[in-house]
Amino acid sequence: MLKLNNISKRYGKEQGLYPFSGSVEQGQTTVVIGPSGCGKSTLLRLVTGLLQPDSGEILIDGELLSTLTLPALRLRLGYVIQEGGLFPHMTAKANISIMAKFLNWEEPRIDARIGELLDLVQLSDDYLSRYPAELSGGQRQRISLMRALMLDPDLLLMDEPLGALDPMIRFDLQNDLKKIFARLNKSVLMVTHDIGEAAFFGDELILLKQGKVVQRGTISDLTHKPADEFVTCFINAQRHKFEDNEAVAE
Ligand SMILES: Nc1ncnc2c1ncn2[C@@H]1O[C@H](COP(=O)(O)OP(=O)(O)OP(=O)(O)O)[C@@H](O)[C@H]1O
Ligand SMILES: [Mg+2]
Repeated sequence: MLKLNNISKRYGKEQGLYPFSGSVEQGQTTVVIGPSGCGKSTLLRLVTGLLQPDSGEILIDGELLSTLTLPALRLRLGYVIQEGGLFPHMTAKANISIMAKFLNWEEPRIDARIGELLDLVQLSDDYLSRYPAELSGGQRQRISLMRALMLDPDLLLMDEPLGALDPMIRFDLQNDLKKIFARLNKSVLMVTHDIGEAAFFGDELILLKQGKVVQRGTISDLTHKPADEFVTCFINAQRHKFEDNEAVAE
């Protein structure tokens, strides 16, 4: 579904991302993890086309991402921005339907799709008329997710979709999201710096450090066959979360 060949990005003197290759298969979830500033959001923004790579190429369902193909390919991507990224001056409903409106969907079609999504994320329609500031963090995250799913995209890009939530809401949303991905057979590229979340969602984990891949594989690979000391340190620092989530997965 997604193929990345040697994409890299430099910001002035700083190399945000060294040449990176990887893929996300149909129906699979790939999780990018690593400490703050290691290049996770950079990688995601390159895939959305919001940022241009200095080198390499991005293929979405076999089609090369370029200025020419970007507008059409964008419609096949759902992007959940770090911190939600809802427009504060627009209601939840206006935020969710922004792309559908842009594509001139009729109101009944928009309402029907929003109805489906409310069921999916388990939210009441009472919240649709509220502004983001009038919603809780968990409700905002659900609205962001609805916005990303509105056009039924093939590929979901999620940047810390559950960041800054209290543990119970996070736990609920993790379970809901995993069911949604499975039910809709979505291909997902997710970013988190939470190893427990990565273990819970990821078919493949990619650990970055200072713009470079340190290791990729399953959580078991990272735990039992660490590529170096850093991998073990990164996992051990959050081991309690990982063990909690193993219990969740069972
Ligand atoms: N627009 C920019 N201009 C200059 N430097 C940038 C820019 N965007 C990111 N960087 C730098 O590139 C590096 C990678 O940033 P990125 O946002 O990808 O990190 P991240 O892994 O998403 O971190 P976090 O977990 O804190 O969100 C950081 O050192 C950051 O300061
Ligand atoms: Mg980030």
